[in-house]
Amino acid sequence: MVKLNDVNSKLLKAHYAVRGKIVIRAQELEEQGRKIIYCNIGNPQALKQKPITFVRQVLSLLEYPALLDSPEAAKLYPADAIKRARMILEKNPAGTGAYTQSAGIPFIRKAIAEFIEKRDGIPADANRIMLTEGASKGVHTAFSLLTNKPNDGYLIPIPQYPLYSAAIELYGARQINYFLDEKNRWSLDEAELERSIAGAVRSGINPVAIAVINPGNPTGAVLSRKNIGMVIRFAKKHGLAVIADEVYQDNIYGEGLEFFSFARVMHDLGEKDVTLFSLHSVSKGFMGECGHRGGYLEIRNMPDDVYAEVIKLLSIGLCANVDGQLVTYLMVDPPKPGEESYELYAKERGAILGDLKEKAEILGKGLNEIEGMTVDIPEGAMYAFVKFDLPHPKGMDPEAMSPEERHKYEAARDAKYCLRLLEGTGICVVPGSGFGQHPGTLHFRTTFLPPKEDILALVEKLKKFHAAYVAKLLEN
Ligand SMILES: Cc1ncc(COP(=O)(O)O)c(C=O)c1O
Repeated sequence: MVKLNDVNSKLLKAHYAVRGKIVIRAQELEEQGRKIIYCNIGNPQALKQKPITFVRQVLSLLEYPALLDSPEAAKLYPADAIKRARMILEKNPAGTGAYTQSAGIPFIRKAIAEFIEKRDGIPADANRIMLTEGASKGVHTAFSLLTNKPNDGYLIPIPQYPLYSAAIELYGARQINYFLDEKNRWSLDEAELERSIAGAVRSGINPVAIAVINPGNPTGAVLSRKNIGMVIRFAKKHGLAVIADEVYQDNIYGEGLEFFSFARVMHDLGEKDVTLFSLHSVSKGFMGECGHRGGYLEIRNMPDDVYAEVIKLLSIGLCANVDGQLVTYLMVDPPKPGEESYELYAKERGAILGDLKEKAEILGKGLNEIEGMTVDIPEGAMYAFVKFDLPHPKGMDPEAMSPEERHKYEAARDAKYCLRLLEGTGICVVPGSGFGQHPGTLHFRTTFLPPKEDILALVEKLKKFHAAYVAKLLEN
């Protein structure tokens, strides 16, 4: 029998906080009959968000094309959903049960290129776009391609989405932390990037790429065009590739804020040397189709012989699942004004995004009123990274601890807080240490995906819980 000792040590070292111990405990409590408010993961449809009707109509026709010829079809489906399904079948006659090209169905890659051209006003090449099973697979593709030597390192934001730290462990690479600037709406700071890369190089690491998440997870921040330009110039100066995680590009709520893609800023800067991997997904935005595992990776500034290796890598996995490819297609080419489905589609999209914006505000404002808690009202994505203060129990002096002892103590503090919060109130959030944070600070990450009444309940429960928790620490 395979024993733990036999398991790939790189896998053993990898952590994935958003599905860690606290979530396992939440599931146990739920089995015992407790109501849990799951705020640990950005999984919209698990939290009662409805799928976009048009997407499911077209998909269902494609999964069972016999429906297209049935007299019932015209009663069950709007004409444009039927027309769209027929068009897809014509372009992909083998249907959903057949492998596709490794990079994905060609007409879908063309539609993605057109989507990028329209979104950014820049040219895009369908032959540098590949369909992936969620953005996660795109990240793995970049890591497989770029990690070559044991000292190869990736600059990742702190706090980060733990896919990045886990991938670094899995591929045997080195993690180079750069801290996001909490005081400046979690933006990237050039001096901090320089500090971080200089430290890595001094310790023998060979930096190969920088990952940036915009809009941010867990921060909920939206980067400015200027900030993105700074990162591109920094990448060029240090010979880094850029991994731009743009899965929340449709989730922007802040007044006057706009999504700028790395591709667009790079194009505007005339940058042709920095290799860019940009990721998008059907899991977020307003579709929330996490279970369909769809998305794409676009690569810029990569020679043909290198790109051939990317295609070889994809071919080792044959292709992304076809339903995921189809949902990605429907994300980039939705119903248009004048088509039968447009009105409902626009209404559903508007309702989901409007609701998220409202919940971001309720959550942000409510938590800021709690003494000892601060958070930027999320401008984007689906999360708030909440800072909270706790007194140290008597006899505990973090200043007197070694860096390792202090790290352990701090990580235990936020994990313990989140566990007690779960057990006391049923609210399931993720400790900040799972994403990384400045030493000496405490955070938790919560989504604002649950229904509005749950968000209101969460704020109230947190208020009471926090006051009681602090009082108890002071008593001891
Ligand atoms: C920043 C970020 N990137 C990537 C992903 C992975 O998403 P998926 O693989 O479902 O597209 C997530 C999921 O929460 C995320 O938050």
